[in-house]
Parts: sequence; structure tokens; C-alpha cells
Amino acid sequence: MAFMTLRGLALLALLFHAGASWADPLLQQGEHIFRSRCVVCHGVNADGRSDLARIMRPPPANLRASKLDDDARAAIVRKGGEAVGRSSNMPVWESELSQDEIRAVVAYVGTLKAHAP
Ligand code: HEC
Repeated sequence: MAFMTLRGLALLALLFHAGASWADPLLQQGEHIFRSRCVVCHGVNADGRSDLARIMRPPPANLRASKLDDDARAAIVRKGGEAVGRSSNMPVWESELSQDEIRAVVAYVGTLKAHAP
């Protein structure tokens, strides 16, 4: 009995550690978009470490340490870095992704921040 409870707790902790994306379709979609569009620059862990980061100046942001709120994050994703006074190395995404897809990927990035190491 106590053993089962411990196992249950361990499983919960594991799921929680993996992020909330297993439960929420919006976050699942966001993770999928992140993995297909963003990791090339921001890295598989979203910490700004990637092969491209070695040569890109300014480097891709460490999204786990982002101090922007969701609105500011959505703005830079939608319109690109240059439109918000940052580097044009951050591409414009509103021509590639729908508003819903941008909402999803921004929500996903928000959960990474919450789980920052
Ligand atoms: C071609 C490389 C590249 C790709 C692909 C890319 N980014 Fe970026 N991104 C950057 C760079 C470079 C910066 C930093 C710009 C600066 O500091 O002026 C940045 C900054 C950001 C920021 C601002 C973070 C902060 O706190 O300042 C967010 C949010 C962001 N990117 C999200 C995304 C998302 C989501 C995707 C995928 C849809 C993505 N990026 C794809 C290069 C990229």
C-alpha cells in the first residue's frame, strides 16, 4: 500500500518534471512547433545553446531565462526581433504560423520558464 503510494508520487513527480505538456493539447501543439521551428537556434533545451548560437551575434536568447511576459514574447515571435527593437536574427513568424500556433508556442515557452533549472 505504502509502496503503491510512493510509486504514484514518483510517477506524478516525473510527469510534473516533464512539464505540463502531456496534459494540455495547446502545450503539446506548442512543443511540437517549438521542436520543428525553434530548436535550430534556441537549442533542444531552449537555453540558447545550439550550433548556430556559436556563430550568431547576438546569439539566440536563453528562453528559460526570459524575463518577457507572454504578450511581449508573442510580439517578438509574431513580428520578429527587428520590429521590437531587437536583432533581426530572430525571424518574423506571423507569415509562417497562424495566430493559434503562435499562441501555442508562446504558451509552451512560458512553461519552460516556470520549470527553469
Ligand atoms: C534563426 C534563428 C532563430 C530562430 C529559428 C528562432 N529564434 Fe527566437 N531569437 C533568435 C535570436 C537571435 C534572439 C535574440 C534577439 C536579440 O537579443 O536581439 C531571439 C529571441 C527570441 C525571444 C525573446 C526572448 C527574450 O526573453 O528576450 C523569444 C521569445 C523567441 N526568440 C522565441 C522564438 C520562438 C518561439 C521560435 C520558434 C517559432 C524562435 N524564437 C525561433 C533567433 C531565432
